[in-house]
Amino acid sequence: MKLDSIKRIGIAGAGTMGSGIALIFAKKGYKVTVMDLSITLLEDSRKLVDIFNQTLLAEELMTSDEEERVMSNIEYSLDKSAFKDCDLIIEAIVEKLEVKQSFWKEVKSIAKKDAYLATNTSGLSINSISEDIVDKTRFVGMHFWNPPHIVPLVELIKGDETSDETVEVLKSLMKRIDKEPVIVQKDTPGFIGNRLQFAAFREALHILKEGVGTVEDIDKAMRFGPGFRYPVLGPLETADLGGLDTFYYISAYLFKNLSDSKEAPEILKEKIDSGNLGVKTKEGFYEYFDGQDEEVIKRRDSMFIKMLKLNNSAEKK
Ligand SMILES: NC(=O)c1ccc[n+]([C@@H]2O[C@H](COP(=O)([O-])OP(=O)(O)OC[C@H]3O[C@@H](n4cnc5c(N)ncnc54)[C@H](O)[C@@H]3O)[C@@H](O)[C@H]2O)c1
Repeated sequence: MKLDSIKRIGIAGAGTMGSGIALIFAKKGYKVTVMDLSITLLEDSRKLVDIFNQTLLAEELMTSDEEERVMSNIEYSLDKSAFKDCDLIIEAIVEKLEVKQSFWKEVKSIAKKDAYLATNTSGLSINSISEDIVDKTRFVGMHFWNPPHIVPLVELIKGDETSDETVEVLKSLMKRIDKEPVIVQKDTPGFIGNRLQFAAFREALHILKEGVGTVEDIDKAMRFGPGFRYPVLGPLETADLGGLDTFYYISAYLFKNLSDSKEAPEILKEKIDSGNLGVKTKEGFYEYFDGQDEEVIKRRDSMFIKMLKLNNSAEKK
């Protein structure tokens, strides 16, 4: 199917991700059908979209015409057969392989013959999720980052049988909805973004364990050092600018000191066992009592939006 023929988007799962993804497409004029398992979940999703809209309006990232368009372009359904006219179906349901497989087993016979099929899995295998689909050439991983209506990156992950045409069409579609697509050439755990993110996370925990820096200083070093550069330069361009010879010499003595642990971190296990899961339990590496939980989320969202505006204006130049 050609890019211009994509008009109707089906989204399964009306949670955090499905709601934000629905908003992005509806804002651009696509007709969107969101499906979930109960009326309450669908009502909650509509409320969530409205909350997202209000933030975007307040930040002048959305006009009132676009807000109206979002609300009128999204339909809700409890029935998967509502996907029968969709040109692209995005599955954003619970991250359990067997649930995703049984979803697709049902939807493969409902979907149009030429519809594109996508899963928003965070890291499950694209090949395993699409196991039951006969023609996998139009099946792809489409990994939006949370919050999807703000973070620009979308990873498009090729399964073993995904066609180049599918990837090209969906890449162009992502650009139409103002996203920054990257192609993940192999169905590999963590894709690209989470491999980078978790390499830094593993090293942060290693630095903490070795007593080299405090929690606060590790976060600060990332935010004002490498993190300050990363919105402008990726790690490979950073090396080009720093000099590949210099980066080689540093790697030669430094790599052997970096963590190469293959285990999930013990420190996280200890925190989980004591009921400290981070913001959602008001304690993690930091404490978030007395309204600090809401404060930190507000600060994050407001900074993300500022970054997005900067990013948008840089892209237009
Ligand atoms: N939350 C994140 O930060 C994030 C980021 C990127 C990708 N993802 C991925 O996106 C997907 C959804 O995550 P989320 O955070 O939105 O989850 P969520 O729990 O907020 O929402 C999932 C929704 O799917 C619904 N659901 C479950 N089984 C279903 C079925 N068979 N048919 C229709 N709906 C069904 C649930 O009722 C729920 O409303 C997962 O695969 C997750 O790994 C999440």
